[in-house]
Amino acid sequence: MTVTTETSTDYAALIARLSLEEKVELLTGETAFTLPGHGGIGLAPLAFSDGPTGVRGLKFIGGDAVALFPNATLVSGAWDDDVARQVGEMLSEEARRQGIHVVLGPTINLHRTPLGGRLFEAYSEDPYLTGRTAVHYVKGLQGSGTAACLKHLVANESEELRNFMDSRLSEEALREVYLLPFEMAVDDAEAWSMMAAYNDVNGVPATEQDEVQNQIVKGEWGWEGLIMSDWFATKRTAESANGGLDLVMPGPDGPWGAHLVAAVRDGRVAESIVDEHLTRLLRLADRTGGLDTGAGHRTFDEVLPAPDSDIRAEQLKRIAARGMVVVKNDAGTLPLGETVTAETLAVIGRHALETQDMGGGSAQVNAPYYATIAEGVRAVYGDGAIVLDGPGVRRRPLDLDPAAATHPGTGEPGVEITLEDADGRVLKQYTSGVGMLTVGFDDDFEGKPARVTLRTRYAHDGGPADLGVVGTARWSVTYTDPAGHERAVDVDQEVAGMDPGEGVLFPPAMKRTVELAADSVVTAVADLYDIDWAGRLLPRTELNLAPESHLLTMGGGGKLALSLAPTEPDANELIAAAAEAARAAGTAVVVVGLTEEDETEAADKTTLALPGRQDDLVRAVAAAAARTVVVVNAATPVLMPWLDDVDAVLIAGLPGQEGGHAIAAVLTGELEPTGRLVTTYPAADGAAPAWNTTPGEDLGLEYADGVAIGYRGYDASAELEPLFWLGHGLGYGSWEYDDVALAGAAGPLAVDVQVRNTSARDSRETVQVYYRPADATQPVRLAGYQGVQVAAGADATVRVECDARLFRRWDAQANTWAELNGGELIVARGLGDVRGRVELG
Ligand code: BGC
Repeated sequence: MTVTTETSTDYAALIARLSLEEKVELLTGETAFTLPGHGGIGLAPLAFSDGPTGVRGLKFIGGDAVALFPNATLVSGAWDDDVARQVGEMLSEEARRQGIHVVLGPTINLHRTPLGGRLFEAYSEDPYLTGRTAVHYVKGLQGSGTAACLKHLVANESEELRNFMDSRLSEEALREVYLLPFEMAVDDAEAWSMMAAYNDVNGVPATEQDEVQNQIVKGEWGWEGLIMSDWFATKRTAESANGGLDLVMPGPDGPWGAHLVAAVRDGRVAESIVDEHLTRLLRLADRTGGLDTGAGHRTFDEVLPAPDSDIRAEQLKRIAARGMVVVKNDAGTLPLGETVTAETLAVIGRHALETQDMGGGSAQVNAPYYATIAEGVRAVYGDGAIVLDGPGVRRRPLDLDPAAATHPGTGEPGVEITLEDADGRVLKQYTSGVGMLTVGFDDDFEGKPARVTLRTRYAHDGGPADLGVVGTARWSVTYTDPAGHERAVDVDQEVAGMDPGEGVLFPPAMKRTVELAADSVVTAVADLYDIDWAGRLLPRTELNLAPESHLLTMGGGGKLALSLAPTEPDANELIAAAAEAARAAGTAVVVVGLTEEDETEAADKTTLALPGRQDDLVRAVAAAAARTVVVVNAATPVLMPWLDDVDAVLIAGLPGQEGGHAIAAVLTGELEPTGRLVTTYPAADGAAPAWNTTPGEDLGLEYADGVAIGYRGYDASAELEPLFWLGHGLGYGSWEYDDVALAGAAGPLAVDVQVRNTSARDSRETVQVYYRPADATQPVRLAGYQGVQVAAGADATVRVECDARLFRRWDAQANTWAELNGGELIVARGLGDVRGRVELG
């Protein structure tokens, strides 16, 4: 493999000017998302931002408004290099607009079990589709000098006990499946950084993985980029420094600093290793304009599209639609024809009104607006369009609607937030547009907060309302009841599990219905816990922690939120009203889905069933309406017990800030939903090649499905029959395939296929080629794909090149790759719809 180094800067000469202490200081972040610079060697303080569906900026919660992109499965769902590249280019613009050097994405872990909470951030169950999407996303980002960060290295496919669990997988699965996307993004796009995961891999923490980081990634692949830790993931000083980790995040404290200086002094870590890490850091800075090699630092002074600009709206709407997947469409129900009007269409469901635009956790951004499906439909059909609420979908408190909150003193919109230290000294007071914040992580003030007070006037007619608080603290919430009495709700909330990150990402929460006076002032006082994580976790030797482990520094704090919302309407009444409206209208679009409670970092799902009474809603509407379309507003598989009762199903993903407009455009046919599934949909809970995400008592999670991930496992199994295969997707065209043949002998293996668009509209087809090796112990695998836009009634010959990396297997005994030969190439629209085969000699 060849690696290019685009600059000739003499990093060694710069490093030679630093003392050991200075070097080490540069190898841990300075704040949550920045690095310390060093004027003496021309190093700017680099800025990092999550990623991957928007560039959030340096604040975890409540930062500036930035563009919210369609989620990862919509990007990969387009099966289109251009879409992935455009997303990368746009993200680079978002990053440059904010002076960010490194975007913490793409997430290229795989959809191993459909219960994984974080799959919405990742591309697919298939390593090749994931790798190829990543390659083009990275090229788009880095083409304008913004570094990508491939995450999370490696085998980080679920969230439960993620800091401590041990992913146990064979060398074959590691190489052929889980490392393949990283390998592709290194070989084909030369990604400039990676992030080492929280979990252990075969007994060794990912941050200490000499085999993965040093031997494979940096050694065999010859990669020159930088590996940073996931946030607070580094467990031991010398083991991580020697194991190939280059940078500890976040800062300013951590397991390197003085510990690493001491480790060098007493010979546990060679100083040359520190120099090697620093070389990679300087190279990253150099590549992203953060190293002054004579011409100054990059100044980030371009004029770039605003997050709420028309150009962004057009791009985000178009890209969202590209990844949406029509999985059922009887009798051409979609797109809704001319006969469907505001009077003959009923749009129904909580997700129609509260469209889920993104998943939960570090991928969240603060968008300038969130277009709901209700807004999108009204923009097309007029304000008279019928949109009805559906039953509730959440178990946890809803975010406070900023439009209903005003500062009790000044009357300006928002919530007054006051942070005090243990002596009652005010550390910070401000008015926030959102009723939430994080403390103890990305603080932008001096001192240690002990108490946080959130105070707001809640616009309400008086009567019952749902009051909630989120966060690890002793809470006391006061409000006025309709009789004018002061009331208080006191609640003690501690993190439930043993993950110090839980307080930030999935904190404890409560909600209850209270009687509120009209426009009551509500004051929530949170007395923060100071959690002694070292005392709790260090005695548990099986956790593989050391006293210096970064996690142990996290303390209490995390996310804190006050929630006020109207009480939930009665579900039976909503369902009855929906059925009646559907019957009267004739055509019903029912929008169902998951929320950020289900699709989130830091927690896995336990079922694929839709939350609440949504299945009942679909059944009632389908029984009443002449035609029923279901829109699934979720990124990952859900169960569809009503599938036979409905006419069409559209998987709409988590479509970003333009989501409502994109879905409306797809329903009407203004845009074609050209997506193909990126993950196989199980027919029932548990009916998948991999399911459980709970590690065993010894914290091990066996990757027992080996190299037969996802569709490969369904294909190999006599019992498992999926609901929909990876690659399935109908679009709005209809296709005939002909003349499937091997392409000319020279170059990589390729297949020529003639496709005819037999429909009356122009459409896009994605031709997929799978390889089934002659060796029956080797699973079938996606080996190539190519999209093509074809006019109505026309045909096109498509050449699909196969990737040689899918025609090899890892020979663990010989510790090398072995070629796979013979077998057949299968041309299919997902393995449930095979259109041609070619025997290989
Ligand atoms: C996530 C990373 C993310 C980091 C910084 C961690 O919790 O696992 O993906 O980049 O936080 O926010």
